[in-house]
Amino acid sequence: MNTDDMSGLLREIDAYVEDLFEPSDEILEAALRDSRRAGLPEINVSPNQGRLLQLLTEISGARRILEIGTLGGYSAIHFARALPDDGTMISLEIDDHHAGVACDNLERAGLSEKVEIRVGDAHDLLSALIEGDEGPFDVIFIDADKESYPEYLDASLRLARSGTLILGDNTIRGGTVLDPRDATARATREFNERIARDPRLSGIVLPLIREYIDGLTIARVL
Ligand code: SAH
Ligand code: DHB
Ligand code: MG
Repeated sequence: MNTDDMSGLLREIDAYVEDLFEPSDEILEAALRDSRRAGLPEINVSPNQGRLLQLLTEISGARRILEIGTLGGYSAIHFARALPDDGTMISLEIDDHHAGVACDNLERAGLSEKVEIRVGDAHDLLSALIEGDEGPFDVIFIDADKESYPEYLDASLRLARSGTLILGDNTIRGGTVLDPRDATARATREFNERIARDPRLSGIVLPLIREYIDGLTIARVL
């Protein structure tokens, strides 16, 4: 099968699963529409991956979630929906404009009370969370600048407890992780290797289908 056929098939499979499970959801669709209108890059998780993140969070029984990389709040809506009434989420975002769009999208979703967006460089915001003793979190989703994933993993471990789920997005990136040729792919590969080798973690890199193959790294702190 040539690459174009393969990409078409991947897209069809993704659409098949999406149609099977995703009842049309005005709030999620509006979040994507407004994010696009506001000029945000379309690099949110896919609807199917959003479902997976929500399901994992529900299974974990999480009450406190940390997200690194908010964008327009599309993944945050899925996470926050998995929280119980008294659950809370903090999401970190460097870009003011992205944070503003996310704030509006979360407001429309009725989730403003549950989700706090902190604007700044995640490196600084994570240090502040650690210094302020604001952990532990039950689920941590790493989805900001890929070069920093190893550092974000270090910070996440300091904000975790036994049982915390640490999730890393974009950890296969069309296979670039197999033969890393740039800093992004190298850092992603290092992130996956550290998750695999760290005796404090049990994990897996789960390939996920979009129009290309990407991955979600899932690790549980022992
Ligand atoms: N989780 C989102 C997508 C996040 S895209 C979703 O699936 O809906 C990555 C986001 O990380 C972008 O909004 C980008 O501005 C932000 N980002 C990049 N570098 C960052 C940094 N150093 N600190 C905080 N956020 C950063
Ligand atoms: C990119 C970033 C992401 O977090 C993602 O899920 C897809 C693409 C990007 O920077 O290209
Ligand atoms: Mg991502």
